Amino acid sequence: MSVQESIRLSYQGEIALLEFDLIGEKVNKLNTPIMKRLHEVLEEVRTSKARVLIIRSLKQKIFIAGADIEEIKSMTKRDEFEKAVSEGQSIINMIEDLPMPTIASIHGACMGGGCELILACDYRIASDDSSTRIGLPETKLGLIPGFGGCVRLPRVVGVQAALEIILQGKTVVAPKALKMGLIDKCVHQGILDIETMKWANEIIAQGAHKRRKVFQPKNMMNKVLESFLGRPVVFSKARESVLTTTHGHYPAPLRAVDVISKTYGMADRAEALRIECEGFCDLATTDVSRNLIHLFFLMEMVKKQTGLPETSTASAKPVEHLGILGAGTMGGGIAYVAADKGVHVRMKDINNDALARGFKHAYDLWAKLLKRRSINKFEFQQKIDLVTGGLDFAGFGQMDVVIEAIVEDMEIKKKVIAETAKHMRPDAIIATNTSSLSVTEMSKGHPNPAQFAGMHFFNPVHKMPLVEVIRGEQTSDTVVATIFELSKKMGKMPVVVKDGPGFLVNRLLLPYMAEAAFLLNEGMSIEVVDTAYVKEFGMPMGPFALMDEVGLDVCIKVLRIFKKALGARIEMAPCMEALEKTGRLGRKNGKGFYTYNEKGDRSSVDQAVYADLGLKAPHNPLTTKECLERGLFMMINECSAALYEDRIVETPHEVDLAMIMGTGFPAFRGGLLKYADSIGSEYIVDQLESYAVSKGARLKPQNPLRNMAKTKRKFYS
Ligand SMILES: NC(=O)c1ccc[n+]([C@@H]2O[C@H](COP(=O)([O-])OP(=O)(O)OC[C@H]3O[C@@H](n4cnc5c(N)ncnc54)[C@H](O)[C@@H]3O)[C@@H](O)[C@H]2O)c1
Repeated sequence: MSVQESIRLSYQGEIALLEFDLIGEKVNKLNTPIMKRLHEVLEEVRTSKARVLIIRSLKQKIFIAGADIEEIKSMTKRDEFEKAVSEGQSIINMIEDLPMPTIASIHGACMGGGCELILACDYRIASDDSSTRIGLPETKLGLIPGFGGCVRLPRVVGVQAALEIILQGKTVVAPKALKMGLIDKCVHQGILDIETMKWANEIIAQGAHKRRKVFQPKNMMNKVLESFLGRPVVFSKARESVLTTTHGHYPAPLRAVDVISKTYGMADRAEALRIECEGFCDLATTDVSRNLIHLFFLMEMVKKQTGLPETSTASAKPVEHLGILGAGTMGGGIAYVAADKGVHVRMKDINNDALARGFKHAYDLWAKLLKRRSINKFEFQQKIDLVTGGLDFAGFGQMDVVIEAIVEDMEIKKKVIAETAKHMRPDAIIATNTSSLSVTEMSKGHPNPAQFAGMHFFNPVHKMPLVEVIRGEQTSDTVVATIFELSKKMGKMPVVVKDGPGFLVNRLLLPYMAEAAFLLNEGMSIEVVDTAYVKEFGMPMGPFALMDEVGLDVCIKVLRIFKKALGARIEMAPCMEALEKTGRLGRKNGKGFYTYNEKGDRSSVDQAVYADLGLKAPHNPLTTKECLERGLFMMINECSAALYEDRIVETPHEVDLAMIMGTGFPAFRGGLLKYADSIGSEYIVDQLESYAVSKGARLKPQNPLRNMAKTKRKFYS
């Protein structure tokens, strides 16, 4: 990369133009060499005769994407962070201190360090293009803004709006940024350069004055909350809300509140920035931040992948037309995510009411976006028009891919697949969304099994990012690549897995949920176990709530399938056997381990469930540690076999990505196997050995895990 050429300076009369265009990079990002170059250029501007400086980007849809995360990852010591952050701060200060006014002209993503740079400018103008998004996403990496973002943003948009952006790592589109005062003007992309120049000339004509924008509350309530007396309430509410959602597992948002509350209104800029720098460096050296950065790179890795080994020459085929068999829970969800990304969708069901529910599901989700103004009326209508449906195979000759999402029954699925293939082009693909049946066996229903694969979405489809792309024994490379690419097009995170019971995620989740039922049999209460997993460990929900979500009938059915396939390590607790006769299906019939209100929201544990299952009133004889370890170590144990014996996936990276994206495994722990490495295979094996003696053979450590412990090996070695 030519650093010199990456930031260019030119002059148009009295106007200096500073342009970012990192040579050899898709995006503009801030790292040490670029910051050094920026320093040089600013020095030149400072001593020039220019009366206004414009800062802009020459990249297509990127202003500045933020700091170079690769560089952050490479630093480990506190003094390295301290040096980089304080140098960065002083370079951003140079912009603020230039003798002439500065205008940031923004088109495309303006994140992190990019946003901090524009905050140091006097004026900000942005294009109204949907690619223009401004924000400070640092907390998503376990950090806080370190180049002055915590200090400057509240002064520009007020404390409340600043907390909203920084604590949630949010980005805002230009019209919203204009409304909150983050930018001063918002114009069409086609006239951004002209308008910026016009504005620069006007500023010169008015005497080229610097300005320090100070937030002006818009109403009385705002005024009170932003006042010296009101602010403590705002900060305390912010802390409370962070603790409610994170249970204290994510230190960055709390530190951000701390830094903002200490520095807001502080006259001494150097001291305010020192406090911010200290906060950044404290966080940057934590495991939480390291783990969140690990996750960031896992997601980047998928963006570059094709789903195929490097040796394969196959490539993905474009998918414009998608058929969906079954407009139920999953089919309706899949139709929504595909059409939302511009794919033409046709649903086929055997039941008109199901079709209507499928349409309604998609309609309601878009209506919510319309109400929130995330899309406009035109986009709303465009998306709706992309979904059609019927009871016959009309239009299936045009389909590039058909996703099957009908009842979970091998014989019915095979028959329907054979029938569907008759109506499709020979080069078109059928993918099944089955969660428990063999893809290889099912492919026998297709006249050409090479054109058949698994595409396993998670429920609810619009919220869960993971798609398991399942390669059957005969699935062709082109089909794998096409389904992988289609998943990405639908905004999902695909992971290629081999065919096998439960593929990857369900194979690991089932033993974990089954172990929770044993805890119940041993006298633990549902509340105590679920609360431990949520509050202590950071899971989005506990195993009992999860079983209710999946459906208790489904859990029992799949457990039986697993027992057949995996043998002694899968056992069903007596209370699980008893569950079958109680008519409790979980959320779907409003009756499970929990009760549900009319809207279908989970209310509280159903205290009648213990007697229903033939259990005595719970007396909670086990420690939280044991409850957590037994469930989590079951997953790790099963994973060692799935990874090293059955090669369901190739790397621990894929396991961690799949568990975070498919189950909500706590991101701050870096994934299941990063967590396993943090406690060590020897400890896990020792504990499993002792649980196996007292609680049953299912808990015996598997050979691959045992071998790891013997050689003190980690999953990420
Ligand atoms: N629900 C989940 O949480 C979940 C998650 C992942 C995968 N899956 C899998 O997705 C598939 C569908 O599950 P679901 O929960 O959406 O089921 P569902 O019962 O909500 O929907 C199934 C739909 O298929 C229709 N159907 C049945 N036979 C058909 C046929 N011959 N042609 C066209 N349509 C037909 C039904 O009328 C119904 O509308 C199953 O294989 C299931 O294992 C479900």
